[in-house]
Amino acid sequence: MKEITLLLIKPDSTAKNHTGAILKIIEEHGYIIKEMIMFHMDREFAERFYAVHKGKIFYEKLIEFMTSGKTVAAILQKENAVEHLRKIVGKTDYHETKPETIRRIYGETVTRNAVHASDSHEHAKEEISIIFPEYKY
Ligand code: RTP
Ligand code: MG
Repeated sequence: MKEITLLLIKPDSTAKNHTGAILKIIEEHGYIIKEMIMFHMDREFAERFYAVHKGKIFYEKLIEFMTSGKTVAAILQKENAVEHLRKIVGKTDYHETKPETIRRIYGETVTRNAVHASDSHEHAKEEISIIFPEYKY
């Protein structure tokens, strides 16, 4: 079944001009880009998006990073999109991930790890509603 999920190209990637290269990988895997925007998260927005991580040891570092520059957000559609995107993105820590994953190619550290991918249908829907409140399924 065709699903949708949310991809973020994080501020480390946009600052290094990796946006196009990452989108090329995404399109080559057969994803349809349904919506896409580039924006600079303010603290309030980042705190809303990452509310599930509040109180964790890496939270402040994550908010600081995500508000440090521009993010590209894209709604992606494909068969099995949620699970497949997580697979091609790779694990949180790019060191642990397979050589061909996006984080292994473009990640710098466990925080500055190039991209975000929703980890479930439920979270994809929640995250999409924060960034694209007008999106019609
Ligand atoms: P994401 O949500 O960005 O797709 O990443 P994820 O599911 O692989 O990892 P998650 O646990 O949801 O963490 C969200 C983001 O927080 C930063 N992080 N830093 N130990 C650390 O220093 C640490 N752990 C997580 C990363 O930027 C991670 O993507
Ligand atoms: Mg996550």
